[in-house]
Amino acid sequence: MAILKILSYGNPLLRQKSKEVGKISKKIRILIENMLDTMYAANGVGLAAPQVGENLRIFVIDVSKENEPYNPLVFVNPKIIKKSGAICVKEGCLSFPEAYVNVRRYSDVLVKALDINGRPFVMEAKGGELLAYAIQHENDHLDGILFIDHSRNIFEATEALNKNNLPQIEEDRLIKEDELEEQILANEALNKANDEERQ
Ligand code: NI
Repeated sequence: MAILKILSYGNPLLRQKSKEVGKISKKIRILIENMLDTMYAANGVGLAAPQVGENLRIFVIDVSKENEPYNPLVFVNPKIIKKSGAICVKEGCLSFPEAYVNVRRYSDVLVKALDINGRPFVMEAKGGELLAYAIQHENDHLDGILFIDHSRNIFEATEALNKNNLPQIEEDRLIKEDELEEQILANEALNKANDEERQ
């Protein structure tokens, strides 16, 4: 067991596309155990292999709350096979210490992957729950995509990065998400109308 060094934003390895895992060897299993140790030591919700300098399609997540037992989830060669709905959430990332930014995400996802023993599984996360956007966040890491690429407000993102002495946002990497934005705006209008009705 070991705590690995987490790469910070600005490191070019975070922008690489990761490779599929062939066989889940002993070496891969040790890497996964170390990723879990590293995530827990850093109080993170998720960690992807490229964040510890490994160019492999693996991530780990634990969305259990403080008063709950650990619930480590391991995803090897994951694929998001269905996504729908839209939410705006404030996310952080272990590669961006202390920087939190509002991003656009799907509210529901269906993901398939292999577990640490190489057994395939399918997992559903719905209703904009933490697991749903954690899966999207970590899966993005495997394609060199970072959460700030989904920023809803570039000024907010810029400020969060500056405040924490992180490199500038890469504007050419921002993802065009008109449909998600439209849905988020529609949801916000609906919530506002409901709130006004309650008052
Ligand atoms: Ni991250």
